[in-house]
Amino acid sequence: MVQPAARVRGRVQPPGDKSISHRYALMSAIADGKSTIRGYSTGGDCASTLACLRGLGVSVEQIGHDAHGLQLTIDGRGLRGFTAPASPLDAGNSGSTIRMLAGILAAHPFATTVTGDDSLRRRPMRRVIVPLEQMGARIASYDGRPPLTIQGATELQPVDFTPEVPSAQVKSAVLLAGLHASGVTRVHEHVATRDHTERALRTFGIDVDRTPDSVAVTGGQRLTGRPLDVPGDISSAAFWMAAAASLSGSEIVITHVGLNPTRSGILDVLRRLGAEVVVEEDGAASGEPIGSIIVRHRGLGSAVVTPAEVPGVIDELPVLAALATHGGELLVTGAAELRVKESDRISALADGFRRMGATIEELPDGFHVHGRDRLRGGEVHARNDHRLAMAFAVAALGATGPTTIHDAGAAAVSYPAFFSVLESLRV
Ligand code: S3P
Repeated sequence: MVQPAARVRGRVQPPGDKSISHRYALMSAIADGKSTIRGYSTGGDCASTLACLRGLGVSVEQIGHDAHGLQLTIDGRGLRGFTAPASPLDAGNSGSTIRMLAGILAAHPFATTVTGDDSLRRRPMRRVIVPLEQMGARIASYDGRPPLTIQGATELQPVDFTPEVPSAQVKSAVLLAGLHASGVTRVHEHVATRDHTERALRTFGIDVDRTPDSVAVTGGQRLTGRPLDVPGDISSAAFWMAAAASLSGSEIVITHVGLNPTRSGILDVLRRLGAEVVVEEDGAASGEPIGSIIVRHRGLGSAVVTPAEVPGVIDELPVLAALATHGGELLVTGAAELRVKESDRISALADGFRRMGATIEELPDGFHVHGRDRLRGGEVHARNDHRLAMAFAVAALGATGPTTIHDAGAAAVSYPAFFSVLESLRV
């Protein structure tokens, strides 16, 4: 149950970035030598990646835990070094795990079955099956959905591939497979998606060829194990930034957070909605810019998120919708991908916000929130989707009464401490 709040104030160190944690774990596993990772995400999704890697014979050890996240060592097995798992691998709720791991398994000449929870087993996988089969793998699926049984090829062919929908997971799966192919594998992007894979590959010593609208790797290059530092997750921090922008008198300081420009679109949308946003970049960690962000409430207006902006804010759209319920207005189009995330986020958001008293129009590829009436609170369903659980909590802060969020525990997929941090920020 989330009670309304007058305002929020405080400093937050968000958990280690989920997207970057997955990549560092996967790349450490196929590198030569040992890697140590600091700030690894404590969320369930990143634990799923480690469980899958252990199932493939990779030794992963947790050596500590601090405010930034977990400290791990991973003994790299080198390219094509995995061993056939004894039983199916479980990617849990994590699309990033199953899709990116599929790219690596495409190069291992044995069959691996990867499955997941009810949500993951509903999510579209043809987007990785098509290019990986073009490269020589064979992938059986349940009508394009998990479980996937990936029969890797002894020799992979390089591809020149343009994904149908902009997707960093698909780009990454193809590039990871491309590392094992003979020749140059190139992925074209009409709209740029997050570039953590490209940056991480370079950090591991790989030559990555980037043009304004494509990225390519030459197969056969080897990754070298190394120390890695994961920045705080801007997508987790987004909930506090939105909470600060929502409530009069609020100020939140986010520390040691990733400022990668392919992920920081939310800062721009917050400013357009009227918030004061101050960013201080103070260096880089393993090739990713990091710094601090201060958000202060300065009133709330209206904003439009255009289709071209969507990949840069895709995971933040639920909380931006929540922010708009506090007296703003937000129109989002070109975001049909939201329908195939951990839940159908468009219909689930519309349903939940309406139950709380909001006016929201559901569009085929987006939504329009009119925040003119104060929410009353009520009972909503997060549909086992972490970002919905946390977005509903941010909306609930501005309601006149309490809100019960069913499936609120889903927040642990990316942010196990979310609800306790929320309580610590109320003043
Ligand atoms: C992610 C890419 C995005 C994002 C997801 C994480 C990644 O998904 O929504 O939460 O780590 O590459 P798509 O690749 O499906 O767009």
